[in-house]
Amino acid sequence: MNIRKKILIGFLFGLASHLATAQQTLDFMGVVDDSQHPAGYREYVEMGCWQCHGFQGQGGLNLKLVAPLIPYEAFANQVRRPRNVMPAYSPNIMSEDVLQEIYSYLQNIPTSPNPDDIPLLSGD
Ligand code: HEC
Repeated sequence: MNIRKKILIGFLFGLASHLATAQQTLDFMGVVDDSQHPAGYREYVEMGCWQCHGFQGQGGLNLKLVAPLIPYEAFANQVRRPRNVMPAYSPNIMSEDVLQEIYSYLQNIPTSPNPDDIPLLSGD
């Protein structure tokens, strides 16, 4: 087999595996079908927000992004012009639509229950 055919076959294999995984998103449990995720999750993962804020905005170093979320204007301002060490995401990297989808994903994550409402924690 000549080198051109080998390159073509390699390319087709690469393309096929890319298409096979296109509807899946990396999750910290493995690779999960996108239909099992809420809207906006794919953008949140693809943009790398999870690296510092966790897959569900739960945070790592006190960087929680869960409800009650800051107003959209403040959120967008932080992402475009971070106040401290967070990397900036310009509109060239992340469109306004993607930013709104990420905001809506985070806003729709259910909040944790109040510990006073959890019988096991009541101490009775
Ligand atoms: C490399 C780590 C890192 C990544 C990646 C990252 N952030 Fe941040 N984020 C931070 C840090 C650190 C802060 C604290 C403020 C600062 O440094 O500007 C922060 C703060 C924030 C805040 C303000 C939270 C509040 O309540 O004040 C928002 C909103 C936010 N990040 C959203 C995002 C979104 C959306 C993405 C993905 C598009 C993202 N971040 C990606 C590190 C990160």
